[in-house]
Amino acid sequence: MKFFVDTAEIDEIAELHDLGMVDGVTTNPSLILKSGRDILEVTKEICALVPGPVSAEVVALDADAMIEEGRKLAKIADNVTVKLPLTWDGLKACKVLSGEGKMVNVTLCFSANQALLAAKAGATFISPFIGRLDDINIDGMDLIQDIRVIYDNYGFETQILAASIRSVNHILDSARIGADVITAPTKVIKAMAGHPLTDKGLAQFMADWEKTGQKIL
Ligand code: G3P
Repeated sequence: MKFFVDTAEIDEIAELHDLGMVDGVTTNPSLILKSGRDILEVTKEICALVPGPVSAEVVALDADAMIEEGRKLAKIADNVTVKLPLTWDGLKACKVLSGEGKMVNVTLCFSANQALLAAKAGATFISPFIGRLDDINIDGMDLIQDIRVIYDNYGFETQILAASIRSVNHILDSARIGADVITAPTKVIKAMAGHPLTDKGLAQFMADWEKTGQKIL
């Protein structure tokens, strides 16, 4: 399973990258706003740091303008993935840009039918939003499962990029189902390392070590 980090914060990306945890990065207009950075500059910096796919999202709503924005974003670096919304115009732009050999991530996917269309339009990645479905009392993991079955039924090569991940269980369930990629905020990836029994066991080891009076260094 590939790990993408869902942020435009360079420091966070660098820390996880040093640990070998970053196979790619995803950004969106809200994350660019949060970073306070210029989209072209920050995307260039991220692409120089991480060799894997780096999603940068268009903001136009009609296909022709999306295509022009996508071409401009793709010129930043070879590893830019053009992120397009799952609208009819977004699908048109996906077909054109993927036909030009550019990586495309189709985002804001909330149904298996949408995912089927994105695969047929040549998407490299489909981004189903788990957390936002959970927010409205629909199980987001059911969508990941449905897309996995449908893509496997027909051999679609579009990669399932589980997005809008809010908890470590979203990552675990995505791995169980066989999502190709997860994209998660830094804090959720870091939370995967935590376990109360690890903390408890370590406290006991430290207390016993103290009693030995020994030192290693
Ligand atoms: O990758 C999409 C993600 O940024 C959306 O997450 O938590 O805003 O629903 P969230």
